[in-house]
Amino acid sequence: MTRKRIVSGMRPTGGLHIGHLHGALMNWKRLQEEYECFYFIADWHALTSEYARPQIIKESTYDIIIDWISVGLDPDVSTFFIQSQIYEHAELHLIFSMFTPLPWLERNPTYKEQLNELAQKNIHTYGFLGYPVLQAADILMYKANGVPVGEDQAPHVELTREIARRFNNLYGEVFPVPDVLLAPTSKLLGIDRRKMSKSYENAIYLSDDDNTIDIKVDQMITDPQRARKKDPGDPGVCNVFSFHEIYSDPEIVERIKGECRTAGIGCVECKKIMGASLKKGLEPVREKRRELEKDTGKIKDIMNEGNKRAKVIAEKTMIEVREAVKLI
Ligand code: TRP
Ligand code: SF4
Repeated sequence: MTRKRIVSGMRPTGGLHIGHLHGALMNWKRLQEEYECFYFIADWHALTSEYARPQIIKESTYDIIIDWISVGLDPDVSTFFIQSQIYEHAELHLIFSMFTPLPWLERNPTYKEQLNELAQKNIHTYGFLGYPVLQAADILMYKANGVPVGEDQAPHVELTREIARRFNNLYGEVFPVPDVLLAPTSKLLGIDRRKMSKSYENAIYLSDDDNTIDIKVDQMITDPQRARKKDPGDPGVCNVFSFHEIYSDPEIVERIKGECRTAGIGCVECKKIMGASLKKGLEPVREKRRELEKDTGKIKDIMNEGNKRAKVIAEKTMIEVREAVKLI
C-alpha cells in the first residue's frame, strides 16, 4: 500500500526554538511514521519579508536543517529540500497566479494581520500578496494529501484547496485537494509570557547553551499575581510550571504543584529546578547539533539528495500541468 503524502515547510528567518519543537517539529516527527513526508525550507517565502537583508535566509537554512535532524527528523525517511532549488515551484506559482482572483488573496486573514504586524517592513508588495499562491504551488507540486500546519496557516491551505479545485475545473483533474492537518500548538510561552516568537525576542532556542538558558530562565515571568515569596502561587497560570510539566520528572512536578500553592517554594528555586530539567532535556538535541555542525559536508549531501528526489516529482507534475494548460 502506498502511503499518503504530506508536505510542509518553514521559512528560514532564524533558528528554531522550543515553541517550534513542541508545536511543528514533534508533530512532523510523529507523521514520519504514517506518511510519506516532504519537509522543505521555504526560502522564497522568507524573501517576501526579508528581501532587504537576505543573508539571514542562507544562515538559517543551514541552522534549521541541523535543528530538524537534531530533534529526530530523519532524512532517510522523509525528503528534505530547498524550495528555491526546485525552480518548478516558480513556474507553477506563475500559472496559478493567472487564475487566482485577487479578492481571494486580499481577504486572507493572515495577510491582513501581517500587513499590520510587520508594518515597519514594507510588505505592500506583489510578492507578499501572492504568498499563498506560492504556498499552493509548494503543496500541489507534490500532489499532497495533507498539509500539517499551525492554526495561523490554515487559511493558506484553504486557499490551496480552492486553487486546486479551480485548476481542475478549468483544465481537468490534475491535483488532489489536500486536507489541513492541524498541528497542536505548543503550550510553552516565551519568557515574557507572550507567544514564543523570534520577533518578540522571548524565545529559548534549540541551539542555546547552558549559560544562555540560565539567563533566560532567570528572566521568566511566573504567576503575575505572586508578588512575594510568602504569597501562594497558581501553577495553572505559570509558564515556568508549563515547562516543568514537559521537562521535569512527574514527582517533581507534583511536589512543585503543591508547594507553589502553599508558598512552600519560591519562584527563584523553582526556576532553578526547571532550568536544570530543561537543560537535561535539551542536551541530546544539542549534542547531535554539535556533531552535525562539524560535518557540513554531510548536511550538503543530505540536501542534494533531497533536492534530487523532490525535483523528479516536480518535473513530472509540470509536464502534466503544461499539457493541461495547453502550453505545449
Ligand atoms: N507559510 C508557511 C509558514 O510561514 C511556510 C510554508 C511555505 C508552508 N510553503 C508551505 C507550509 C507549504 C506548509 C506547506 O509557516
Ligand atoms: Fe511558577 Fe514555580 Fe513560582 Fe509557582 S513557584 S509561581 S510554579 S515559578
